[in-house]
This record gives sequence, structure tokens and C-alpha cells, in this order.
Amino acid sequence: MTSGSSAASKVLPARDPTIGARIPVARPLIGEEERQAVVRVLESGHVVQGDQVAAFEHEFADLVDGRECVAVASGTAALQLGLLAAGIGPGDEVIVPSFTFAATANAVRLVGALPVFVDIDPSSFCLEPAAVAAAVTPSTAAIVPVHLFGHVADMDAIGRIAQRHHLLVLEDAAQAHGARRGDRPAGTFGDLAAFSFYATKNMTTGEGGLVATADKALARQIRLLRNQGMERRYEHEIVGLNARMTDLAAAIGRVQLSHLPGWNDARRSHAATLTARLDDVVQTPTVAPGTTHVFHQYTLRHDDRDRLAQHLWARGIDTAVHYPRPVHRMPAYAVGPWQDTDLPQTQRACREVLSLPVHPGLTDDDLDRIVAGVRSFGDAQ
Ligand SMILES: Cc1ncc(COP(=O)(O)O)c(C=O)c1O
Repeated sequence: MTSGSSAASKVLPARDPTIGARIPVARPLIGEEERQAVVRVLESGHVVQGDQVAAFEHEFADLVDGRECVAVASGTAALQLGLLAAGIGPGDEVIVPSFTFAATANAVRLVGALPVFVDIDPSSFCLEPAAVAAAVTPSTAAIVPVHLFGHVADMDAIGRIAQRHHLLVLEDAAQAHGARRGDRPAGTFGDLAAFSFYATKNMTTGEGGLVATADKALARQIRLLRNQGMERRYEHEIVGLNARMTDLAAAIGRVQLSHLPGWNDARRSHAATLTARLDDVVQTPTVAPGTTHVFHQYTLRHDDRDRLAQHLWARGIDTAVHYPRPVHRMPAYAVGPWQDTDLPQTQRACREVLSLPVHPGLTDDDLDRIVAGVRSFGDAQ
């Protein structure tokens, strides 16, 4: 699975063989420490329901100001269980962006509620608060803002709307581990927050996810939901799923977590280099004042995005389009009340965006090649 589409997949000009090694758009950093941690779990015999998941939850809590953390099987499961635990279901409307990975809206539909798609602020790519306020109806039960690409949405404004209308806020922080707005980290603004540890995220457990919440009752409900409704074996208090994280995954996550601050710094530094050297030729990403962006993606805008992607591909530089189509325009959303939904900023972003490599594995030479590749596109016109 990938949460982006390869921007050059449709077009295959010959690559120049004298160009250096391919620069991937994402590269999970998994090393000897992770290998050893997995071997230790395998040798312990407790590959599931051992002590690693609880230790990972405990350590991850440092990232979300000590909130309760419940590790689950994926980011999608984190969203779904968060909504289920909060009692969101049939008859409820949930405000979501359409410029996101489809999991955000899919989770809403999987619990039987109705996603209501709202446009984005073109500078941050995150939910536009005025549009959120305009979309609230008597049936609205929740807002799911996405901290897209590692940039925290305008949570002050969204929080005020939620408070005014008594709405639940579930942050989709799948792409925002360690991001901040003011002095608060992603995952501490809403009633609940969902993180993903998919392979290409800023930190990974292979597959995995986590729900953070300050509400102990919600946390307990999510623990039950992830484990067939059981706290004690064969005592099913509620109907639940199997959405557990394995101890193998949690052991990887503990090592990755220790590297996250350094990796996020590297992402930020690469982004700063790209912006300083490309700002005059493309529309580089903006960072709202007071926010700490963790650049899960470095996403620029260009009105000839597909040809820029081909140009870079031919130079050994991979790119991706996050996202090529609004969620409400996907075949999965063809049947439903979304046909008249018009989101001009979302549609424009889908036409213009292109993500460049920004991952921590990039070298100075890679950055030089990316900059030279983008700058030479203008000359090639
Ligand atoms: C914004 C967003 N939400 C949700 C998800 C779902 O996470 P997962 O792939 O771990 O289920 C992802 C990741 O792919 C994502 O990018």
C-alpha cells in the first residue's frame, strides 16, 4: 500500500544511465538495533500480548504530554476505534478534509457515520476553519482535522468551533509525530488523536497505529475494542475487534521512537535547504508562524506538475503526488451525497502538488541533485 501515487508512473522517458543512484521519495530507516529488538522478542516467546506494547505506549506518551496511549494494528484502526469508542455512528455527520489519504474518511464510513467534506486552507493544505464552521449542522458530531504532511492544522480555531457546538475532535496525526503548534504537540489538541506507523511514516513499526487521549474512560474503551472487548480473558464486556499491535511491531517502534527527534530535525533541515534554494522557481511549502513542521512530505505546487515529475524521474529523482484525486471523487464515494460537493482549493491542490524526497536518509549530494533537477526544469522549457 502507498498513500501517494508515483508521479511519473504514466510516463517513462529514458533515464540517463550516467545519473547517480535513484533517490527514492521515501525510505524507511530500519537498522541493526531494530533487528536485535525483534530477535529478542522472538526469543522471548511472547510475540503478542507480551510487555513490549505496554512499554511502547508508555514511551510514546512522552510525545503527547503524558496522554494515555493505546497501540493498535494501524492508523486506520486508530481512527476507527477512536470514533467507535466515542460513540460516533449512524445518524452522525463527521467533518473531514477531502485532501487527505482516504483512510480519514473511510474510518468515518466504517463506523456508519457520514463524512462531510470541507475545503482546505491553500497555504497549509489543512482544514479551513471558516469552511468547517459553515459545514456544521444539527447532525454534526465530530471533526477530524488532518495534520497533513506533518503540519499541525489550525487547532485553536477548530477547537473553538468544536467547543461552541459540543463536537468531538479526533486529530488525524498519522503524518505528524512530533509536530507542534505553539507549545503543544500534535495529538494533544483533540479529545482523541490517531497516529500511524506505516512503513514510510516519520517513524514505523512496519504496520501499526496508536490512539492518544487524555480521557481515561475513552482509553479503556479503545483497549477493549482492540481486544475483542476483553480486559480479562474470555470475559467479553463489549463487542470488539482484533486490532492489537504485536510485540514485534512495538519493539521496532521503541527503537524508532528514540531516533524520531533526530530524524525530524533532519527532515526540517532538508526542507529548509530545498526551500532556500527553490523558492524562486516553484511554490515551496509554507510553515504557519508558531508551528513546528515535521515534513512527513515536502510538497510543492507547480502548474506543470506532471512534466516536472517526468523531468525529475529522468534524472533519477523519484517524486509522488499526495494526492492526485479528492477523496470524495474516488469510486468508493461515487454513491452517496457527495456529488454536489465543490471544493475548489482541494481540486486545485490535487492538480498542482508534487512531493520531493525529504527523508532523513538524503545526503548533501542527493539534495544538490534534487535542487539542480528542479531548477533545470525551467531551462528545459
Ligand atoms: C492522513 C492519514 N490518515 C490515516 C492513515 C492510515 O494509516 P495506516 O496506513 O497506518 O492505516 C494514513 C497513512 O497511510 C494517513 O496518511
